[in-house]
Amino acid sequence: MMRGELDWRLILGGTLLGAFLVGGTPPANAQSTAEKVQSTAEKVEICAGCHGQDGKPIDKTIPIIWGQQQGYIYIQLRDFKRGDRKNEIMQPIASTMEREDMLAIAEYFSKRPWPDLGQPRASKEVADRALSANRSVGCTGCHLDHFQGDGTVPRLAGMSREYLAKTIADFRTRARGNNPGMSDLMLATSPDDLAALAEYLSGL
Ligand code: HEC
Ligand code: HEC
Repeated sequence: MMRGELDWRLILGGTLLGAFLVGGTPPANAQSTAEKVQSTAEKVEICAGCHGQDGKPIDKTIPIIWGQQQGYIYIQLRDFKRGDRKNEIMQPIASTMEREDMLAIAEYFSKRPWPDLGQPRASKEVADRALSANRSVGCTGCHLDHFQGDGTVPRLAGMSREYLAKTIADFRTRARGNNPGMSDLMLATSPDDLAALAEYLSGL
Protein backbone atom coordinates (compact mmCIF):
# COMPACT_ATOMS: atom_id res chain seq x y z
CA MET A 1 0.00 0.00 0.00
CA MET A 2 2.75 2.44 1.02
CA ARG A 3 4.65 1.53 -2.08
CA GLY A 4 1.69 2.27 -4.34
CA GLU A 5 1.26 5.67 -2.77
CA LEU A 6 4.92 6.49 -3.24
CA ASP A 7 4.84 5.53 -6.92
CA TRP A 8 1.83 7.73 -7.48
CA ARG A 9 3.63 10.69 -5.91
CA LEU A 10 6.68 10.11 -8.05
CA ILE A 11 4.56 10.09 -11.18
CA LEU A 12 2.72 13.23 -10.15
CA GLY A 13 6.04 14.89 -9.27
CA GLY A 14 7.39 13.99 -12.69
CA THR A 15 4.31 15.37 -14.40
CA LEU A 16 4.50 18.63 -12.49
CA LEU A 17 8.20 18.96 -13.25
CA GLY A 18 7.42 18.30 -16.91
CA ALA A 19 4.82 21.05 -16.85
CA PHE A 20 7.35 23.47 -15.34
CA LEU A 21 9.83 22.65 -18.06
CA VAL A 22 7.21 23.29 -20.74
CA GLY A 23 6.14 26.52 -19.04
CA GLY A 24 9.70 27.78 -18.74
CA THR A 25 9.32 30.22 -15.88
CA PRO A 26 9.15 29.22 -12.21
CA PRO A 27 5.58 29.78 -11.06
CA ALA A 28 4.57 31.96 -8.13
CA ASN A 29 1.91 29.50 -7.06
CA ALA A 30 3.39 26.11 -7.93
CA GLN A 31 0.27 23.99 -7.76
CA SER A 32 -2.22 26.12 -9.69
CA THR A 33 0.26 27.33 -12.34
CA ALA A 34 1.40 23.77 -13.01
CA GLU A 35 -2.20 22.71 -13.48
CA LYS A 36 -2.86 25.55 -15.89
CA VAL A 37 0.27 24.91 -17.96
CA GLN A 38 -0.41 21.21 -18.00
CA SER A 39 -3.95 21.65 -19.19
CA THR A 40 -2.81 23.95 -22.01
CA ALA A 41 -0.20 21.35 -23.00
CA GLU A 42 -2.99 18.77 -23.03
CA LYS A 43 -5.31 20.96 -25.06
CA VAL A 44 -2.69 21.53 -27.75
CA GLU A 45 -1.93 17.82 -28.20
CA ILE A 46 -4.63 17.43 -30.85
CA CYS A 47 -3.28 20.40 -32.83
CA ALA A 48 -0.07 18.49 -33.59
CA GLY A 49 -2.07 15.94 -35.61
CA CYS A 50 -2.40 18.54 -38.37
CA HIS A 51 -0.19 21.53 -37.51
CA GLY A 52 2.71 19.15 -36.89
CA GLN A 53 4.56 17.60 -33.99
CA ASP A 54 7.58 19.77 -34.81
CA GLY A 55 5.63 22.75 -36.12
CA LYS A 56 5.70 21.58 -39.74
CA PRO A 57 2.10 21.03 -40.87
CA ILE A 58 1.29 17.59 -42.26
CA ASP A 59 -0.24 19.10 -45.40
CA LYS A 60 0.75 22.16 -47.43
CA THR A 61 -2.72 23.69 -47.17
CA ILE A 62 -2.46 23.75 -43.36
CA PRO A 63 -0.85 26.92 -41.97
CA ILE A 64 2.16 27.10 -39.67
CA ILE A 65 1.07 28.17 -36.19
CA TRP A 66 4.40 27.68 -34.35
CA GLY A 67 6.00 31.10 -33.91
CA GLN A 68 2.97 32.89 -35.38
CA GLN A 69 2.00 36.20 -33.74
CA GLN A 70 0.12 35.72 -30.48
CA GLY A 71 -2.62 38.28 -31.09
CA TYR A 72 -3.23 36.90 -34.56
CA ILE A 73 -3.63 33.29 -33.37
CA TYR A 74 -6.10 34.44 -30.73
CA ILE A 75 -8.18 36.44 -33.25
CA GLN A 76 -8.35 33.47 -35.63
CA LEU A 77 -9.51 31.05 -32.91
CA ARG A 78 -12.10 33.62 -31.81
CA ASP A 79 -13.27 34.15 -35.40
CA PHE A 80 -13.51 30.39 -36.05
CA LYS A 81 -15.63 30.04 -32.90
CA ARG A 82 -17.87 32.96 -33.87
CA GLY A 83 -18.18 31.59 -37.40
CA ASP A 84 -16.74 34.81 -38.87
CA ARG A 85 -13.98 32.66 -40.37
CA LYS A 86 -15.51 29.53 -41.77
CA ASN A 87 -13.68 26.21 -41.88
CA GLU A 88 -15.27 22.83 -41.31
CA ILE A 89 -12.19 21.53 -39.46
CA MET A 90 -11.26 24.50 -37.28
CA GLN A 91 -14.76 25.69 -36.35
CA PRO A 92 -15.70 22.61 -34.28
CA ILE A 93 -12.25 22.64 -32.62
CA ALA A 94 -12.48 26.33 -31.65
CA SER A 95 -16.13 26.05 -30.62
CA THR A 96 -15.14 24.09 -27.50
CA MET A 97 -12.68 26.77 -26.35
CA GLU A 98 -13.26 29.51 -23.82
CA ARG A 99 -11.58 32.90 -24.28
CA GLU A 100 -8.97 31.97 -21.65
CA ASP A 101 -8.09 28.75 -23.49
CA MET A 102 -7.64 30.70 -26.72
CA LEU A 103 -5.36 33.23 -25.05
CA ALA A 104 -3.28 30.49 -23.40
CA ILE A 105 -3.06 28.45 -26.62
CA ALA A 106 -2.10 31.56 -28.63
CA GLU A 107 0.66 32.32 -26.14
CA TYR A 108 1.86 28.70 -26.18
CA PHE A 109 2.23 28.50 -29.96
CA SER A 110 3.62 32.01 -30.40
CA LYS A 111 6.56 30.95 -28.21
CA ARG A 112 7.47 27.88 -30.29
CA PRO A 113 10.13 28.40 -32.96
CA TRP A 114 8.91 29.07 -36.51
CA PRO A 115 9.77 25.95 -38.57
CA ASP A 116 11.76 26.05 -41.81
CA LEU A 117 9.74 24.34 -44.54
CA GLY A 118 12.75 24.52 -46.85
CA GLN A 119 10.81 26.17 -49.69
CA PRO A 120 12.86 27.50 -52.60
CA ARG A 121 13.65 31.21 -52.93
CA ALA A 122 11.71 32.95 -55.68
CA SER A 123 13.55 33.69 -58.92
CA LYS A 124 14.68 37.28 -59.44
CA GLU A 125 11.85 37.85 -61.89
CA VAL A 126 9.18 36.67 -59.43
CA ALA A 127 10.80 38.54 -56.52
CA ASP A 128 10.88 41.78 -58.55
CA ARG A 129 7.21 41.44 -59.39
CA ALA A 130 6.32 40.72 -55.73
CA LEU A 131 8.37 43.65 -54.45
CA SER A 132 6.86 46.01 -56.96
CA ALA A 133 3.34 44.86 -55.95
CA ASN A 134 4.33 45.39 -52.33
CA ARG A 135 5.48 48.93 -53.19
CA SER A 136 2.12 49.83 -54.69
CA VAL A 137 -0.15 48.06 -52.17
CA GLY A 138 2.03 48.55 -49.09
CA CYS A 139 1.76 45.03 -47.61
CA THR A 140 4.79 45.70 -45.42
CA GLY A 141 3.06 48.83 -44.05
CA CYS A 142 1.04 46.35 -41.97
CA HIS A 143 2.95 43.06 -42.17
CA LEU A 144 6.15 44.95 -41.35
CA ASP A 145 9.71 44.54 -42.52
CA HIS A 146 10.55 41.10 -43.84
CA PHE A 147 6.85 40.20 -43.44
CA GLN A 148 7.32 39.20 -39.79
CA GLY A 149 4.00 40.63 -38.59
CA ASP A 150 3.23 41.85 -35.09
CA GLY A 151 0.32 41.58 -32.67
CA THR A 152 -2.84 40.82 -34.65
CA VAL A 153 -1.03 41.08 -38.02
CA PRO A 154 0.30 37.67 -39.09
CA ARG A 155 3.80 36.67 -40.07
CA LEU A 156 3.81 35.66 -43.75
CA ALA A 157 7.53 34.99 -44.32
CA GLY A 158 8.19 31.27 -44.80
CA MET A 159 4.51 30.23 -44.77
CA SER A 160 3.66 27.43 -47.17
CA ARG A 161 3.07 28.68 -50.70
CA GLU A 162 -0.02 26.46 -51.12
CA TYR A 163 -1.65 27.77 -47.94
CA LEU A 164 -0.88 31.40 -48.89
CA ALA A 165 -2.41 30.88 -52.32
CA LYS A 166 -5.46 29.20 -50.79
CA THR A 167 -6.14 31.82 -48.15
CA ILE A 168 -5.54 34.69 -50.61
CA ALA A 169 -8.09 33.06 -52.95
CA ASP A 170 -10.48 32.68 -49.98
CA PHE A 171 -10.12 36.40 -49.15
CA ARG A 172 -10.88 37.24 -52.79
CA THR A 173 -14.09 35.19 -52.89
CA ARG A 174 -14.88 36.31 -49.31
CA ALA A 175 -15.10 32.62 -48.36
CA ARG A 176 -12.69 33.94 -45.71
CA GLY A 177 -14.86 36.80 -44.53
CA ASN A 178 -13.38 37.64 -41.15
CA ASN A 179 -11.44 40.65 -42.41
CA PRO A 180 -13.31 42.50 -45.18
CA GLY A 181 -10.47 45.03 -45.45
CA MET A 182 -8.03 42.27 -46.47
CA SER A 183 -10.59 40.98 -49.00
CA ASP A 184 -10.89 44.48 -50.55
CA LEU A 185 -7.13 44.76 -50.74
CA MET A 186 -6.73 41.32 -52.34
CA LEU A 187 -9.46 42.09 -54.87
CA ALA A 188 -7.67 45.32 -55.77
CA THR A 189 -4.45 43.40 -56.48
CA SER A 190 -4.02 41.39 -59.69
CA PRO A 191 -4.02 37.58 -59.43
CA ASP A 192 -0.59 37.51 -61.13
CA ASP A 193 0.86 39.89 -58.53
CA LEU A 194 -0.67 37.81 -55.73
CA ALA A 195 0.75 34.59 -57.17
CA ALA A 196 4.18 36.24 -57.27
CA LEU A 197 3.74 37.43 -53.68
CA ALA A 198 2.77 33.94 -52.46
CA GLU A 199 5.82 32.42 -54.16
CA TYR A 200 8.13 35.17 -52.90
CA LEU A 201 6.81 35.03 -49.30
CA SER A 202 7.10 31.24 -49.09
CA GLY A 203 10.78 31.45 -49.98
CA LEU A 204 11.68 34.07 -47.34
C1 HEC B 1 -7.72 18.01 -38.47
C2 HEC B 1 -6.70 19.01 -38.76
C3 HEC B 1 -6.52 20.18 -37.80
C4 HEC B 1 -6.42 20.13 -36.42
C5 HEC B 1 -6.51 18.95 -35.51
C6 HEC B 1 -6.19 21.52 -36.00
N1 HEC B 1 -6.14 22.35 -37.09
FE1 HEC B 1 -5.88 24.37 -37.05
N2 HEC B 1 -6.13 24.45 -39.07
C7 HEC B 1 -6.36 23.36 -39.89
C8 HEC B 1 -6.59 23.84 -41.25
C9 HEC B 1 -6.87 22.98 -42.46
C10 HEC B 1 -6.50 25.24 -41.20
C11 HEC B 1 -6.66 26.21 -42.38
C12 HEC B 1 -8.09 26.66 -42.45
C13 HEC B 1 -8.35 27.52 -43.65
O1 HEC B 1 -7.86 27.20 -44.74
O2 HEC B 1 -9.01 28.55 -43.49
C14 HEC B 1 -6.20 25.59 -39.83
C15 HEC B 1 -6.03 26.90 -39.37
C16 HEC B 1 -5.68 27.24 -38.10
C17 HEC B 1 -5.36 28.59 -37.65
C18 HEC B 1 -5.30 29.83 -38.52
C19 HEC B 1 -3.84 30.11 -38.87
C20 HEC B 1 -3.65 31.18 -39.89
O3 HEC B 1 -2.49 31.36 -40.33
O4 HEC B 1 -4.60 31.84 -40.28
C21 HEC B 1 -5.09 28.52 -36.33
C22 HEC B 1 -4.68 29.66 -35.41
C23 HEC B 1 -5.22 27.13 -35.93
N3 HEC B 1 -5.58 26.39 -37.03
C24 HEC B 1 -5.01 26.66 -34.65
C25 HEC B 1 -5.22 25.34 -34.25
C26 HEC B 1 -5.11 24.89 -32.88
C27 HEC B 1 -4.73 25.78 -31.72
C28 HEC B 1 -5.43 23.55 -32.88
C29 HEC B 1 -5.52 22.61 -31.69
C30 HEC B 1 -6.38 23.05 -30.59
C31 HEC B 1 -5.71 23.18 -34.27
N4 HEC B 1 -5.58 24.29 -35.06
C32 HEC B 1 -6.05 21.90 -34.67
C33 HEC B 1 -6.36 22.04 -39.50
C34 HEC B 1 -6.35 21.57 -38.20
C1 HEC C 1 -3.91 47.62 -43.75
C2 HEC C 1 -3.02 46.59 -43.21
C3 HEC C 1 -2.69 45.43 -44.17
C4 HEC C 1 -2.18 45.50 -45.44
C5 HEC C 1 -1.83 46.75 -46.26
C6 HEC C 1 -2.00 44.13 -45.87
N1 HEC C 1 -2.41 43.26 -44.88
FE1 HEC C 1 -2.45 41.24 -45.02
N2 HEC C 1 -3.35 41.14 -43.21
C7 HEC C 1 -3.60 42.21 -42.38
C8 HEC C 1 -4.29 41.73 -41.20
C9 HEC C 1 -4.75 42.57 -40.01
C10 HEC C 1 -4.45 40.33 -41.37
C11 HEC C 1 -5.17 39.38 -40.41
C12 HEC C 1 -6.60 39.26 -40.87
C13 HEC C 1 -7.39 38.38 -39.94
O1 HEC C 1 -7.48 38.68 -38.76
O2 HEC C 1 -7.91 37.38 -40.43
C14 HEC C 1 -3.85 40.00 -42.65
C15 HEC C 1 -3.80 38.70 -43.15
C16 HEC C 1 -3.12 38.35 -44.30
C17 HEC C 1 -2.95 36.99 -44.77
C18 HEC C 1 -3.45 35.73 -44.09
C19 HEC C 1 -2.29 35.04 -43.38
C20 HEC C 1 -2.67 33.74 -42.74
O3 HEC C 1 -1.85 33.19 -41.99
O4 HEC C 1 -3.78 33.27 -42.97
C21 HEC C 1 -2.24 37.06 -45.93
C22 HEC C 1 -1.81 35.91 -46.81
C23 HEC C 1 -1.96 38.46 -46.18
N3 HEC C 1 -2.51 39.22 -45.17
C24 HEC C 1 -1.26 38.93 -47.26
C25 HEC C 1 -1.10 40.28 -47.57
C26 HEC C 1 -0.47 40.74 -48.77
C27 HEC C 1 0.15 39.86 -49.84
C28 HEC C 1 -0.56 42.12 -48.76
C29 HEC C 1 -0.15 43.10 -49.85
C30 HEC C 1 -0.66 42.78 -51.19
C31 HEC C 1 -1.24 42.48 -47.51
N4 HEC C 1 -1.54 41.33 -46.82
C32 HEC C 1 -1.51 43.77 -47.11
C33 HEC C 1 -3.28 43.52 -42.62
C34 HEC C 1 -2.82 44.02 -43.83
